[in-house]
Amino acid sequence: QAFFKSILHTAPPSPTKRHTKISVIGAGNVGMAIAQTILTQDITDELVLVDAVPDKLRGEMLDLQHAAAFLPRTKIRASTDYSVTVASDLCIVTAGARQSEGESRLNLLQRNLAIFKVIIPALARYSPDSVLLIVSNPVDVLTYIAWKLSGFPSNRVLGSGTNLDSSRFRFLIADHLDVNAQDVQAYIVGEHGDSSVALWSSISIGGVPLLSFLEKQQIEYEKDTLENIHRQVVESAYEVIRLKGYTCWAIGYSVASLARTILRDQRKIHPVTVLANGFHGIDDGGQVFLSLPAQLGRGGVLGVTDVHLTEEEAQRLRDSAKAILEVQAELGI
Ligand code: NAI
Ligand code: 2OP
Repeated sequence: QAFFKSILHTAPPSPTKRHTKISVIGAGNVGMAIAQTILTQDITDELVLVDAVPDKLRGEMLDLQHAAAFLPRTKIRASTDYSVTVASDLCIVTAGARQSEGESRLNLLQRNLAIFKVIIPALARYSPDSVLLIVSNPVDVLTYIAWKLSGFPSNRVLGSGTNLDSSRFRFLIADHLDVNAQDVQAYIVGEHGDSSVALWSSISIGGVPLLSFLEKQQIEYEKDTLENIHRQVVESAYEVIRLKGYTCWAIGYSVASLARTILRDQRKIHPVTVLANGFHGIDDGGQVFLSLPAQLGRGGVLGVTDVHLTEEEAQRLRDSAKAILEVQAELGI
C-alpha cells in the first residue's frame, strides 16, 4: 500500500464504469474454451465459473487465475453454489452431457433437461435481469426449456444456435474459393444440427452475390457442389467428435463473439436461437426456438432481420421447425 501512497493521494477518482459480470455454467471442454476466449478478449470485469464437480472447478479457476500476468485484468471466481452468480449480466450455460461418437444432439435431451431444471431456476433467482445464453445440446430445445423455466421475456433467452454452423459454412466457402472467411457473408439457419438450412440465395462475398461471383470468376458449380458444402457443415461436429472426442475451440470463439456483442451493446447481427414463431410462415404446432439472423445488444435479442428466403429455403426452415417441435411434443412441456 505504501508503494502507491504518493500516487494515490494525487490521483483523480477512478471513472465510474459499469461493472460487468459473466457467469459460465459448466466448466468442461466448452465452458473452459468460452471462458478463456472471453478472458483474452477483455469482454468482462468479472468471470464466474460454476460446475457440479468442486475439485475440477477449483483447478480450472486457479489455472486461469495463474495467467493473470498475461491477460486483461478480470476478476475470476468459481463455486458450486449459485449465489456466486448473483447480479450477472450474462449467464452462459454449457453444463451437461455431450455426444458420444455418432450420437445425435437430440439424443442428449432427457439427460440435459434434468440438469436444466436445477440450473435455470437458480440463475433466474440470482440474476433476474440477466441475459441467458444457452449452449448445451440440443441447444434449440434447451433454449425453449430455459425460456419456460426462467420466466424471462423471450428477448433475454437465446441459444448459440447456428452462429457456429455459419462460421463452419463461411470457412468452407472461403476455402473452396480461396477468399477470406470474414469477407463471406453467409447464414445457416434453423436447427443447430441435422436439419439446419443453408441460405444460398443470400450469400455474398465482398458485397457480390455468391452465384454471380462464381459466374464472373468462371468457376463451374453444380447444385451438388453447394449441397456437398452444406453436408460438410452438418457433418463437421460428428467428424471432430470422432477424431478428438468433443468440439471446443470454434464454439469458444463463437460464444465469445456473442458475449462481446451483448455486453458491449454492439448491435451486430448473428444467426442465433430465438423464438421463431411468426417468421417465414413458422406458425403451427407450438412455440419453437431455432436460429435466425438476429440483432443482439445489451438487452439480448433486439430484433430478427427479415432476410430474403426462396420458397424452397422457407419450406426447409419450416421442416426444421417441425423436427424440433416433434421432439418438444415428446417432452410434454
Ligand atoms: P464436458 O463433459 O466436458 O463438460 C460438461 C460439464 O458440465 C462438466 O464439467 C460437468 O461436471 C458439468 N455439469 C454436469 N452437470 C452439471 C450440473 N448439474 N451443474 C453444473 N455443472 C454440471 O462437455 P462439453 O464438451 O463441455 O460439452 C458441454 C455441452 O455443450 C454438451 O451438451 C455439448 O453437446 C454442448 N455443445 C454445444 C455446442 C453448440 O454449438 N451449441 C458446441 C459444442 C458442445
Ligand atoms: C458442435 O456443433 C457438438 O453441437 C456441437 O460442435
